Amino acid sequence: MDRYIVSGGGRLTGEVGISGAKNAAVAILPAVVLSGDICRIENLPNIADVSTSLDILSMLGAQIRRINQNTVEIDPRPICSTMVPHDLARRMRASSYFIGSLLGRFGTARVSMPGGCNFGVRPIDQHLKGFTALGACVSPMEQGMIEVTTDRLVGNSIYLDAVSVGATVNIMLAAVKARGATVIENAAKEPHIVDLANFLNTMGADVRGAGTDVIKIRGVEQLTGAVYSIIPDQIEAGTFMAAAAATGGDVLIRNVIPKHLESITAKLMEMGVEVEEYDDAVRVVRAEPIRHCNVKTMPHPGFPTDMQPQIAILLSLADGTSILTETVWDNRFRYVEELRRMGAQVQVDGKVAVFQGVSRLTAAPIKATDLRAGMAMIIAGLVARGTTEIEDIFHIERGYEDVEKKFSALGANIRRVTLPDNALGGQAV
Ligand code: EPZ
Repeated sequence: MDRYIVSGGGRLTGEVGISGAKNAAVAILPAVVLSGDICRIENLPNIADVSTSLDILSMLGAQIRRINQNTVEIDPRPICSTMVPHDLARRMRASSYFIGSLLGRFGTARVSMPGGCNFGVRPIDQHLKGFTALGACVSPMEQGMIEVTTDRLVGNSIYLDAVSVGATVNIMLAAVKARGATVIENAAKEPHIVDLANFLNTMGADVRGAGTDVIKIRGVEQLTGAVYSIIPDQIEAGTFMAAAAATGGDVLIRNVIPKHLESITAKLMEMGVEVEEYDDAVRVVRAEPIRHCNVKTMPHPGFPTDMQPQIAILLSLADGTSILTETVWDNRFRYVEELRRMGAQVQVDGKVAVFQGVSRLTAAPIKATDLRAGMAMIIAGLVARGTTEIEDIFHIERGYEDVEKKFSALGANIRRVTLPDNALGGQAV
């Protein structure tokens, strides 16, 4: 029953600091399984998906010491289990990364099929193709579990049929301790892939080419402990850029890597938003009406699919017709129904949404349909006339740290409330 209550109409102004990257953290924590000693991970975002990753590590047998809200020390040496059960795996997509790291360390893993945001079919065939190419045997088991086992992983060349972040991560995790060389072609190039490679190399792995579409991994016998700080979250930064622009605000977004934001910056500037870049910050100011614009999501360095719902709020308010095309996921427009309830004029046909800009949105009771869409609903609430109530906010808290605190510091009127279960007054739900 937890909700965000957002009163709209104000401009966001001031400064906000960006947390560590969720999608890097959920790859780096499973990678710790491969280490032969204690690892200290810094700049971890304090979010539900990180807690789930730590719960899985703990359940496998790792010893975890929380140093503070954003730093943990993990000793993976006592890990003795190789199974990730359904109740943990279903909470997030990245639980599948434990297949790669358990396989790399023990030659065996049993993991329940992963959960995560619902964007239509989310296969893991490319992950499994990679494990098989490295010499593992994949067997489906009862209750949605899969078992992946091998006597010895042996490096190989793997061409990915889809540019997949998850398959690239999982194959890297399995290959770093395989015998010989692995080459991943048509690999994903996202910043979190590079961050994972840097972490693996800090532990003594030999991974080259991350950030390009060919990654070469030479297997090593042992990995050591490491101290590592996670990169800033590209998507959280982009989300605050979109929120600043949507509210006609003036916000300095600190602790970012501006290079990671280039595709977002380019689109905001096309819409008439000013973006100033500094070494590790960007300032976003909007003083003019939003200009219509076409946006197409692509794998990195294209416009990120994980920014698609947030940019949709700007397109809803732009001065004319805009086309938003999703090329990564089959069904990432489920939030449009909620947006229409707020007065947005949007038509969806398959992977294309056409926005006819309106001058304002109006508050309505709405739902977070997934993580990024939920955050887009907060932005919609900030620009809408009236008070918007957003439910199913657990989606948002999987991936964003201190939502209420960060927006409030920028002058937003946002509250997180917990309503008792009987607050619906007996309505059918
Ligand atoms: C990662 O998901 C991210 N999650 C997603 O972010 C993000 O939307 C996505 O990459 C694309 O950038 C994490 O990093 C934890 P994919 P992932 O494998 O790895 C197809 C967020 O909001 N495909 O790159 O699951 C697939 O159907 C989340 O933070 C196959 O065909 O995505 C899709 O069309 C949501 N076979 C495309 O590739 C496979 O085996 C990209 O998927 C795997 C994927």
